[in-house]
Amino acid sequence: MSESGTTSEQYLRLIEGELEESLLLIAGSPLKEGIKYVFSMGGKRVRPLVTVFAAESVGKVSGDVLHAAAAIEILHNFTLVHDDIMDNADTRRGKVTVHVRSGVNTAILVGDQMMALAYDCLEKCSGDHLREGLRVFNEGVKQVCDGQALDESLSKTNGSGMSDYIDMISKKTGALLKAAAELGGVVGGGSRTEVESLGTFGLNLGIAFQILDDLLDLEGDADRFGKPKGLDIIEKKKSFLFLKAQESLDRSRVAVVNAAYSKATVAEQDVEAVRNAYREGGIFDAAREEVSRYTETALSGLASLRESRGKDALTNLANSLVQRKF
Ligand code: IPE
Ligand code: IPE
Ligand code: MG
Ligand code: MG
Ligand code: MG
Repeated sequence: MSESGTTSEQYLRLIEGELEESLLLIAGSPLKEGIKYVFSMGGKRVRPLVTVFAAESVGKVSGDVLHAAAAIEILHNFTLVHDDIMDNADTRRGKVTVHVRSGVNTAILVGDQMMALAYDCLEKCSGDHLREGLRVFNEGVKQVCDGQALDESLSKTNGSGMSDYIDMISKKTGALLKAAAELGGVVGGGSRTEVESLGTFGLNLGIAFQILDDLLDLEGDADRFGKPKGLDIIEKKKSFLFLKAQESLDRSRVAVVNAAYSKATVAEQDVEAVRNAYREGGIFDAAREEVSRYTETALSGLASLRESRGKDALTNLANSLVQRKF
């Protein structure tokens, strides 16, 4: 592998190759077909790109970096399989979700097996970086579980505020992007300070990414978003939009939002009413502003890194994610 001009498309092909190759490690597993299905669903592959670009920003993209990048993407996909069970989501990436396709029990096991497969990929890294890489990776796993637990409890209780939300998304989404960036730094041979800077980048990018995901739940490009629209309202999620509405919407609009959230079953017209209240009350604009703010903080994390292709690629990736519609 080289640092001499590999494009994002080439990296993406290499990452797909790693994912494909990982399936050899579970050749005889009855869960292999389900995992292959998850890989075939696609996705933006943001996290493994962060890992390779982070490595490129401090050193070079070795075979170990690609193993680590695949490990992060497999971990992410595992969290999605279980997340879709938790969120009652029928579609992802425009395709039917694993639990709808194969049943909840199989989907739980597909997720579990993917977690082990992720560790298998990480374990391919050479001794030097393996120990620290494992620490970074495991920290990500634990935080994501905590974040998902907080998401679950916030959806079932009232009275939480924006600081609870930021704490929850820092864990459920920020932690994985932080781990992706730090892992690239570690396996790429970066110094402790460089890895820390990459961690700041990843965490804040993850926070921005989740706020935007909450916005896209209502405002995303329907054809490309690939997930059920309005699901956060149907599932009574304490999303950025909901919490911002509690803070800043006028009383009549916040009443519309709270009426929908207090229904046993949220109907399509309730989603539409909440969407209008958010739109007219400037909640979508506030979300976009917050996304820009966290993206700026993410980019400021890169400021101390020397100029490099990898740093430019991380900057471009962060800027393009802010613009995304899916
Ligand atoms: C979805 O992540 C889960 C969130 C943290 C919002 P992505 O939007 O990166 O999902 P894929 O991998 O591209 O499908
Ligand atoms: C997902 O948050 C975070 C994790 C999977 C850990 P969401 O529940 O908002 O993600 P989507 O919208 O289903 O992709
Ligand atoms: Mg979900
Ligand atoms: Mg969720
Ligand atoms: Mg979401």
